[in-house]
Amino acid sequence: MNPFREDLVARSLPEPCTVVIFGATGDLTHRKLVPALYNLAVDGELPTGVKIVGFARRDKSDGEFRDGLEKINRKVSRSGHDERVWAPFVENVFYHRSEFADADGYRRLAERLDAIDAEGGGKGNRLFYIASAPEYFDDILIQLKEAGLNQAAEGCWSRVIVEKPFGTDLATAAHLNEVVNATFEENSTYRIDHYLGKETAQNLMVLRFANAIFEPLWNSKHISHVQVTCAENLGMEGGRGGYYDKSGALRDMVQNHLLQLLSLVAMEPPTDLTADGVRDEKVKVIRSLRQWDTPEKVAENVVRAQYVAGHVDGEPVPGYRDEDRVDPESETEAYVALRLMIDTWRWSGVPFYIRMGKRLPKKSTEISVHFKDAPCVLFNSCGVGSPGGNVLVIRIQPDEGISLRMVSKIPGNSLRLEPVKMDFHYDTSFGKTSPEAYERLLLDAIAGDATLFARRDEVEEAWKFIDHIERAWHESETAPPMEEYVAGSWGPREADRLLARDGNVWRRL
Ligand code: BG6
Repeated sequence: MNPFREDLVARSLPEPCTVVIFGATGDLTHRKLVPALYNLAVDGELPTGVKIVGFARRDKSDGEFRDGLEKINRKVSRSGHDERVWAPFVENVFYHRSEFADADGYRRLAERLDAIDAEGGGKGNRLFYIASAPEYFDDILIQLKEAGLNQAAEGCWSRVIVEKPFGTDLATAAHLNEVVNATFEENSTYRIDHYLGKETAQNLMVLRFANAIFEPLWNSKHISHVQVTCAENLGMEGGRGGYYDKSGALRDMVQNHLLQLLSLVAMEPPTDLTADGVRDEKVKVIRSLRQWDTPEKVAENVVRAQYVAGHVDGEPVPGYRDEDRVDPESETEAYVALRLMIDTWRWSGVPFYIRMGKRLPKKSTEISVHFKDAPCVLFNSCGVGSPGGNVLVIRIQPDEGISLRMVSKIPGNSLRLEPVKMDFHYDTSFGKTSPEAYERLLLDAIAGDATLFARRDEVEEAWKFIDHIERAWHESETAPPMEEYVAGSWGPREADRLLARDGNVWRRL
C-alpha cells in the first residue's frame, strides 16, 4: 500500500463548531488557546461559524472576558494583533459563568449552545476543551454527560480535548480514562500533548519515512546512541512552583512530551498515516522500554536533581527550594536524566538518553542521533585521528531545523580533518514562521484527526514506566539520592557519568 495515498494523507475539512473552553479565566486560555484560534483566523484557516464559549467560575460579562483576552493577545500573538481580524473574531467569543460541578450551569450551557446553533453558528458540532485545574476534570466530564452534551444531534459531532496532566500515575490516569470513556467514544477523545503539534516533531516522520537515505541506517547497526534534551532557562516564575513541586520533571515533561518524541524517533514505519496506524507503532516503543523497576536499576539509569542558587542570563536566581510556592524541604526534582533501552531488534544495545531540566543555561529542545564512527582505517594510518562520527540533529525549538555533522578535509596541502555541519533552518528555507503547536492541534481536533493526540494505551504504558521510578524515589528505603546543580549550569555531574559509562558525552547545545 502506498503510505502517501491521498485519502490516507488528507484530513477531513475543519467544520464549523462551538468550542467550549473549561477553565476560561486561566493562563492557558489567554496565552495559548485563544491566540491560537485567532491566528487560525488570521491565516484564514478557522472555519466561518466557529463560536467560542469560555466556561469558568468567576463572575464576568462577555465584554470583560473579551477585553482580558485582547490585552494578552496583543502581547503574545504570533502574527501580532490586527484589529480588522480581531474585531469580527471576538464578536464570536462568549463567557459562561458556572461552578464545574453545578448541573444547572450545564443545563444553561446546553440552552446557550442550542441558541448559538439556532442563530446559524456552530452547526450542532461541539468541541469541549477541558483546560481547568485537573481536580475538576471528573466533574466536568460527568456533568457533560448528565446534561446530554456528550451526545451530538444526528449528523453532528461532539468531541472532547483533555489537557495535561492526564493523571499523576497509572492508577489516576486509568481512572480518568474510565471517566472519559464512559462519557465520550475513544475516537472522540483527544488527549493533548502540545509537543506533538510542534512543527519539527511532526516533521520527524517525514524525515524518516519520506527520505530513502535514513531508514536503512536507522538501527543498532549504524546508530551508537540517541539523545533527547529539553533545556529550560526558566524556573518557577508566575506562581508555577505550587503545581510543579507536586509534579517534578519526570511527571511534568518526561511521561508525556519526551516519551512522545522518543516514540517518534524509535517507531517502526506505520502501515498508513491514519491516527491508529501511527499510534499503534508509537505505543509499541513505549511498551518495549526496559523497565527500571528496582531501586538499583533506577539508581543506575536515572539521575534526579534540584538546582541551587546561581545565575541565568547574567541574573542571580534562587535555588529550587527557595522558589516561590516551593516547599523549603522539597524532595521534588527539577532536573532528570535517564538512560533508556528499547528492547526490540532494531534498537538492541542502543542507549537512548533523555534529559530535562529547569534553570539550565538556555531554552532549547533537540534530538540528536549519533551514528557509529566510520572504521577509520584509512585516516588513522595517516595519524590524523578520528574527529568523531556523524550526528543528525533535529532542533525542535527554538530555531527549528535539522543539521547533519560530517567530517571534512580542511583545505590546504596537508591532510587534516574537521567536522562540518550541513544545516537546514525552517524560517530561511520556507520563509515563514511555523504555526504554534496549539493552532495545529485545535484545527486537527476540529477536523476530527486524532493522529497528533495520545491514545489511552499510550498514556497508560508511559505511566507504567514512570511509576516504577517514582516508587523507587519515594517509597524505597534505598532511594537513589537527589543530586544538585548550580542554576545556569548544564545539570549535575552524575548525569555526565550516566553517559560516560557507555563511552558517550552529552552534546553541547
Ligand atoms: C509544559 C510543562 O507541559 O511544557 C512546563 O508543564 C514546560 O513545565 C512546558 O515549561 C514547556 O513547553 P514549551 O512548548 O515551552 O517547550
